[in-house]
Amino acid sequence: MQVTMTVNDVEVTREIEGRLLLVHFLRDTLSLTGTHWGCDTSNCGTCVVWLDGEPVKSCTVLAAMADGHEVRTVEGLAKGAELDPIQEGFMQCHGLQCGFCTPGMMMTCRALLDKNPDPTDAEIREAISGQICRCTGYSTIVRSVRWASVHEAANK
Ligand code: FES
Ligand code: FES
Repeated sequence: MQVTMTVNDVEVTREIEGRLLLVHFLRDTLSLTGTHWGCDTSNCGTCVVWLDGEPVKSCTVLAAMADGHEVRTVEGLAKGAELDPIQEGFMQCHGLQCGFCTPGMMMTCRALLDKNPDPTDAEIREAISGQICRCTGYSTIVRSVRWASVHEAANK
């Protein structure tokens, strides 16, 4: 079957098998390997991308379901050479160690700040509760999101 979708503002059309998962479409067909593939059972959240602006676990979405829709991946967060504040926050506050969970964390946290620009620590922890980080203990991730929140507010 043929699918057409917009990925990071670029329209793409490809022939795919109907059973192909979105995570594999992004990684293997489009070479957007920033989206990671972990548990494959909807538990770890490393595969989170946006589908029409909403975070989804791309290991549980068929590529065919994205036909006609807009997808954004971690590669689409920065604006040219300018990092998104959430990326800057993870860098400034050491929100990552091995980095495996980081793309999904950043997509979820960016979506959180778009809806709630000044979340509490509890709200940040709730937002990332569907995602697993084996390295950081989560405190630095929360700190990174707060950094982004404060700096976005200051730059408005
Ligand atoms: S790979 Fe999708 S939730 Fe783990
Ligand atoms: S930084 Fe290693 S899993 Fe999160």
